[in-house]
Amino acid sequence: MELANMIRVPMSLNAIVWLNAADAIWQDGANTPLSASDILARALPSSSSDHADPENLQRILRMLTSYGVFAEHLITPDGSQRKYSLTDIGKTLVTGPDGLSYGAYVLQHHQDALMRAWPLVHEAVVDPRSEPFVKANGEAAYVQYGKEPGMNGLMLKAMSGVSVPFMKAVLDGYDGFEGVERLVDVGGSAGDCLRMILQKHPNVREGINFDLPEVVAKAPNIPGVKHVGGDMFQSIPAGDAIFMKWVLTTWTDEECKLIMENCYKALPAGGKLIACEPVLPAESDSSHRTRALLEGDIFVMTIYRAKGKHRTEDEFRKLGLSVGFSGFQTFSFDYFYTLLEFHK
Ligand SMILES: C[S@@+](CC[C@H](N)C(=O)[O-])C[C@H]1O[C@@H](n2cnc3c(N)ncnc32)[C@H](O)[C@@H]1O
Repeated sequence: MELANMIRVPMSLNAIVWLNAADAIWQDGANTPLSASDILARALPSSSSDHADPENLQRILRMLTSYGVFAEHLITPDGSQRKYSLTDIGKTLVTGPDGLSYGAYVLQHHQDALMRAWPLVHEAVVDPRSEPFVKANGEAAYVQYGKEPGMNGLMLKAMSGVSVPFMKAVLDGYDGFEGVERLVDVGGSAGDCLRMILQKHPNVREGINFDLPEVVAKAPNIPGVKHVGGDMFQSIPAGDAIFMKWVLTTWTDEECKLIMENCYKALPAGGKLIACEPVLPAESDSSHRTRALLEGDIFVMTIYRAKGKHRTEDEFRKLGLSVGFSGFQTFSFDYFYTLLEFHK
């Protein structure tokens, strides 16, 4: 019964994000326990909060408390009065000074087009060439994203909301950018990762943000960063080190080998490719981390069936060795992504 009903968890999380309940509780770090009616009074304009239903919100808060999103405070022992504060997990939904949180990632999963694809996961098994998303919507996800500014905007915000905290953790704990003067970000999109790296590491004098011509055409001006349009399957600009985030996961093994081969060619002897990707553990245990990574793999299978998949450390190591990299090392700074270093 729990497994069948688990779909209520993301649905309720979506409601919490939609209602801005996390911001209502957080209030600049106060995180004071609030009742459902306090939350509604803070989160909704009075015209809506007057007739909103605190009891229904409390039902959602209780359920998400059992999944570790909220902490529950019983004000009366019989449970007739309850208040809620945020746990560390709940705090990921609070909007930061940059306007980002994990909230956009939650909302993105509830877009109509994606919702239509979820019941078709079996299609990926029955017909390996079909993409459940295409079956449900008639065209590939990235084609739809390109056509619908709302969907594209939410996707970009969702990616930044997840990427920015990861990059902060990498910049705090990783010293691999020391000694690098020219750094290339392959598939760097708008250049956000390079901007953060250059701010923290002044030794990186030149950042090359390499992406498709149509993508870099829209990228903003960033001091120290040169935007270069091209195709990573053809060639990649030379650098002392190459950075890449969330790129390999969306391609097949053969395509990954082509990309990594071009990285290898673009590096000097002793240079390194720094790739940040979700990495599956070898064993399918029931930890939160393993579950998040395995669930993410089903997401990739549903949306980008024909292309990517989540891989294990060993699979990444073998891909690197097959194109000539001689050394391999991994670093963990985050629950979702692992930093993989391939040495030439
Ligand atoms: C999943 S996004 C990751 C973006 C960014 N690295 C991040 O982590 O937020 C993959 C990126 O690869 C770029 N890309 C796709 N095909 C490419 C190609 N053939 N050559 C260069 N970049 C490409 C896309 O435009 C996109 O920006």
